[in-house]
Amino acid sequence: MTSTLPTTPTAAASGTFALGGDLPIHRLGYGAMQITGPGIWGMPADPEECLRVLRRLPELGVNFIDTANSYGPHVSEMLIADALHPYPEGLVIATKAGLERPGPGRWTPKGDPAYLRAECEGSLSRLKVERIDLFQLHRVDKDVPADEQFGLLAELVQEGKVRHVGLSEVTVEQIEAARRVVPIATVQNRYNLAERQSEDVLEYCQREGIGFIPWYPLLTGKLAQPGSTLARAAERLGATPAQVALAWLLKRSPVMLPIPGTSKVAHLDENVAAASLQLSADEVEALSREVGAA
Ligand SMILES: NC(=O)c1ccc[n+]([C@@H]2O[C@H](COP(=O)([O-])OP(=O)(O)OC[C@H]3O[C@@H](n4cnc5c(N)ncnc54)[C@H](OP(=O)(O)O)[C@@H]3O)[C@@H](O)[C@H]2O)c1
Repeated sequence: MTSTLPTTPTAAASGTFALGGDLPIHRLGYGAMQITGPGIWGMPADPEECLRVLRRLPELGVNFIDTANSYGPHVSEMLIADALHPYPEGLVIATKAGLERPGPGRWTPKGDPAYLRAECEGSLSRLKVERIDLFQLHRVDKDVPADEQFGLLAELVQEGKVRHVGLSEVTVEQIEAARRVVPIATVQNRYNLAERQSEDVLEYCQREGIGFIPWYPLLTGKLAQPGSTLARAAERLGATPAQVALAWLLKRSPVMLPIPGTSKVAHLDENVAAASLQLSADEVEALSREVGAA
């Protein structure tokens, strides 16, 4: 089958979503965790290509970037500023704090308010912004009262350091507890065509108009591999497996904001083109059935 995808990909084709009701973004964004070294530690193998990826984002209409203080640590935020500051109008950068990095591949929740405040200050400085568009609590630290962590986020909003607040890897109960303290604009949970344990959280977000950011939208690249059920469906649709996985996410919910990660311009172009891939309701259903059990 011949591909119906445009030659110039544009994230605008994914439609828009207003973060916190007032900050519009194109729904297909970019996850900046892959522009670091192995174990999400240190500089990437090819920093120049990573800078090219970042500079390509505005050309493709991608205006939503997800990063974190802990990617590198600090490397991802610094490369974003190197590549794109002064930022093009309308670019929204979301960052996170709440996971400490003792070494490559190691992530430890750390949610004491003094630490979160210091990390927010660090992100403001590394990203070279006066206010963080979307500041996400990377994990709720079970060793710190949850309300202290949510309360600190509310303080940062009141102080004008943060515009909107997001959560990551949370249950519906945790979102409701947080919302009693501070408005929540987004939730970022692990979710993709093959891993849908957060379905209840997605349903809740859709009902409440909260953005749902699925991390691992390509299952760390496994959904992009040839030879799978998904790959066979992709062939049928004249697209690549990664594109079908992303198009399925976009079709799944109007609050879905996928942030596929890549360190390569060619993969970025391929992923953004997925915004123009129209899946019918029948195709979505078939994919859910066939690939969902993987
Ligand atoms: N909140 C959390 O706890 C959490 C956890 C993990 C990730 N995240 C966020 O979610 C974002 C996405 O997750 P992720 O980057 O880990 O995983 P992902 O988006 O599911 O997959 C990224 C992997 O797929 C490969 N890839 C991307 N596009 C491809 C394509 N078109 N064809 C073939 N391979 C492709 C990339 O390799 P190449 O570099 O070679 O393209 C990379 O190895 C992250 O960047 C980060 O912002 C959040």
